[in-house]
Order: sequence, then structure tokens, then C-alpha cells
Amino acid sequence: MGPALPEVHERRELERIAVDVAREAARLVVEERPEHLRVARTKSTATDIVTEMDQRAQDLLRDRLGRARPQDGFLGEEEGGATGGSGITWVVDPIDGTVNYLYGIAAYAVSVAAVVGDPAVPGSWAPVAGAVVNPTNGEVFHAHVAGGAWLEMPDAAPRRLELHGAPPLAQALAGTGFGYDAVRREWQARVLLHVVPQLRDIRRIGSAALDLCAVAAGTLDCYFERGLNPWDMAAAWVVVAEAGGLVTGLTGGPPDSSMVLAAPRGLHPELASLVRSAAEEAGDEPPLGQAAE
Ligand code: IPD
Repeated sequence: MGPALPEVHERRELERIAVDVAREAARLVVEERPEHLRVARTKSTATDIVTEMDQRAQDLLRDRLGRARPQDGFLGEEEGGATGGSGITWVVDPIDGTVNYLYGIAAYAVSVAAVVGDPAVPGSWAPVAGAVVNPTNGEVFHAHVAGGAWLEMPDAAPRRLELHGAPPLAQALAGTGFGYDAVRREWQARVLLHVVPQLRDIRRIGSAALDLCAVAAGTLDCYFERGLNPWDMAAAWVVVAEAGGLVTGLTGGPPDSSMVLAAPRGLHPELASLVRSAAEEAGDEPPLGQAAE
């Protein structure tokens, strides 16, 4: 048995809070972006960056969520987490697609999810509500379990996202991404070598949260990536699931950092079997941090 699902009125409330705080952080990252944006520090590798706005947006999210729901836990991409006593943890990515944000490419998102279970333990947690906001075009994707997936755009009525049918694999447009470690990127390139000839094409948009929401909206047919963290996928996972899609790991269990596969139900088995055989062909991934000279 998985962790207990909050009642519907609470899930609705969590979704509303996720939307409100994600919208506020989205305004912050656009309106207060300095003219000369600085990389504040790096994390796993020299290209895994944190800008001053990542930290400011996370601080804002943490403050707002802490005021609205002081008993909940908090896990963010940047520094500063907290365990709570309510059974709910907020899992947030203040800017998913930080490299796009740094370069001024309009494909990044604020991602806010309420999850049950321990997001630090792979396979033991699941989102119950979430919101993903694209600050550059005003799109807001949001969902709670059993409440449907919704897309709001400026000056338009909210649209329910529902996946019906799916193209055959050979006609599918797939999103994917690459990690920050050179060893991982080499492995991902080997997997791609086997995958690309079997699909219509690949897109590397640069924000996993937007990639997953694109699957929910049908602007990508499917998505796969190794190396995602809970904050990259948590909010968009519930959006895809509520749109009628499947989000899993490589062998059908919950998604985790070894693989996230997302697709409409009709396409998911074919995608899973393609990525599994490509991963076998690519061989074991060497230990990270040991790129060849
Ligand atoms: C990254 C983006 C990117 C994906 C990477 C993620 P970040 O998140 O989602 O699309 O390929 O795996 O780490 O670092 O920009 O929050």
C-alpha cells in the first residue's frame, strides 16, 4: 500500500496553492531578472548552474508555502529543505530549464508539486497536486489526483487536457534531455543512436517539466530521459497522469532518476520497449564523474 492520499477537498486546495505560488515565482523571475544575470554557483559539474534568480525564486516559494501550510515538508532544487509532520512535502523547481533562462531562450518553467511519501526515496513517493508555469508565454498547467489536467493561457478559458489515441512509434515526436555529467551525456547519446531511427524525430527543449506537460497537451507525443530529480518531474507527472497518460520508469514502476518514460497509454508499451532495448545496446553507464580525457 502506498502513502495515504489526502481527501479531495485538500487535494483541490493543494492544487490552488501550487498554482498561486508558481505564478508569483514566475512573475519574479521575469520582472526582477537583472540586466546582467550572474551564475551564483555551480553544482554537480561546471555546467550545472544556479543563477541568483533560482535561489530568489526558491526562497519566495519556500516562504509562501511555509505561510500557507506550516506543517508540510519542503524539498527544492536549490539549498534549504525541511521535513514536515503533515505527510505532504512540497517539491519545487524554481527554474526548470536554468540554462535556457541564462541564455534568454523562452523555454523554462516554475514547477511546484505537493507529494505524499518521501521524495528522497526513489519509488516511494507520488505527486497529489501540482502546477507548472511557463513565465514567458503565461501557460499554466495544473492538476490534482482525480481532478483532471488543465491548461490555462492568458485571455482564454481553462482547457481540460485529455489524451485520446496515439500515433505509431514511427510517427511519434519524442522529447528528451541530457544530464550535466559528461559520462551520462555519452551514455544518453549512445541510447539516442538506437532510438532516433525508430521515431519521427527528437526535440531537446531544455526543460523536463515543459517536456512532460507537452506530452499532456499533445504537442509532444512522448518523452524519455535518464537523470531527472524529483523536482524536475513531480508537478508535470500528475499533469500527464491526469491527462490520461502514463509516467513510469524503465520497467513500468514509478519513474526515478534512472529513467522517466511518459506517453499516452496506447504508445507507452512501444516506447518502453524501444528505450529498454536501446539502453541494453548502449551497455552499462560508467560511474559518473569519470569522463575520458
Ligand atoms: C534540467 C532540465 C533539462 C533536463 C535536465 C534537468 P534544471 O533541469 O529539466 O531539460 O534535460 O536533466 O536537470 O537543471 O534546468 O532545473
